[in-house]
Amino acid sequence: MPDQTSKVIVTGGAGYIGSHTVVELFHAGYEPIIIDNFVNAEKSAVKGIENILGHKVKLYEGDCGNMDFMRNVIRQEKNVSGIIHFAAYKAVGESVAQPLKYYRNNIDTLLSLLELMHEQTISRLVFSSSCTVYGQPDALPVTEQSPKKPAESPYGNTKQICEEIMEDTVKSGMAIKTVALRYFNPIGAHESAEIGELPLGVPNNLVPFVTQTAAGIREKLTVFGNDYNTHDGTCLRDYIHVVDLAKAHVSALHYLERKSEKSSYDVFNIGTGKGSTVLDVIKTFEEVNQVKLNYTIGPRRPGDVEKVYAEVSQANAALRWKAQLSLADALKDSWRWQLKLKKKSKQLP
Ligand code: NAD
Ligand code: UD1
Repeated sequence: MPDQTSKVIVTGGAGYIGSHTVVELFHAGYEPIIIDNFVNAEKSAVKGIENILGHKVKLYEGDCGNMDFMRNVIRQEKNVSGIIHFAAYKAVGESVAQPLKYYRNNIDTLLSLLELMHEQTISRLVFSSSCTVYGQPDALPVTEQSPKKPAESPYGNTKQICEEIMEDTVKSGMAIKTVALRYFNPIGAHESAEIGELPLGVPNNLVPFVTQTAAGIREKLTVFGNDYNTHDGTCLRDYIHVVDLAKAHVSALHYLERKSEKSSYDVFNIGTGKGSTVLDVIKTFEEVNQVKLNYTIGPRRPGDVEKVYAEVSQANAALRWKAQLSLADALKDSWRWQLKLKKKSKQLP
């Protein structure tokens, strides 16, 4: 276990997954240091973290791709033991329209951090990758050895390229121990409803669309296709509670601390190992929250994967981590978070 002075830099620590991870790092005895430029987060997320912890957290506002800024942070903090790198742009559609913006931010930030880690002898890195690297898999569940498919979007491509950059850096012999976590579909919020996802504009992802529809912000949810080869015809995903996902990052740091090699690259799937369809999500949401959802069946969404869920035995064994929370837990927490947002926002009904 780390001592209280084990400092970990969390880039994108004010974002959806980063904020939950900052909470879990603190609970595990680390001192998280948030770096965020708030391109896709609000200051209220940091306040939310502090409300949960009853404690101030360190925040440096700036671009984690700016080496001078980051060098100053690292020097000022001294003894930074590791970095968890969440900061990235993540909107798939926008990445198709503005690929350079995505390649610049998502790849540059990793390159800068790796160079700084070399320069400042910081040896542990945990990176946010995605199940998007598997595309439409040939066999299910997908294991870490399943082939990667050509990326469907510049966003997906940045994740593949970043994994390769980490792998090549390790192959070069640089003294750095790295883990790429391939997240499946993160949903839910902290049970306190102090932090959660803040989707800007019309959400693309299913669960924010579900909660906004239930809250009356959207008129109705469209289910994208019901003629897929699944038990009810709708697409199937591996939905993981964001708090379980956050805990996987703490486990990944512990794993790197246990590792004796000086230089390593590992990849782990972070999911529940179970698949749920769009209709499973809708029914569970209605049941656990006692809310009726206005939805209709529409055409397929172009580019959608029919079904994907994770084989998680490698993460269970090596990271000593296992998802604990259910789909019902996540959908209860998402709804609690949505109700809180609704109360806070003047424009909402
Ligand atoms: P998010 O947008 O909520 O969080 C990202 C944070 O990074 C934001 O707070 C943003 O302001 C910050 N940021 C972006 N660029 C920055 C920069 N250059 N310098 C400093 N801060 C910067 O996203 P999230 O859902 O928490 O995702 C975190 C990571 O996980 C991303 O790398 C994302 O690609 C990856 N991921 C997310 C999902 C998902 O469904 N949410 C799935 C797979 C992988
Ligand atoms: C998204 C991302 C993908 C990322 C993954 C995990 C896109 C195109 N892809 O895909 O890169 O790796 O999240 O975070 O954004 N759905 C509806 N109606 C809606 C919204 C969604 O039926 O209004 C369905 C979709 O067709 C899909 C499921 O819900 O079957 C989940 O959708 P979404 O939340 O967008 O996640 P992914 O499709 O897995």
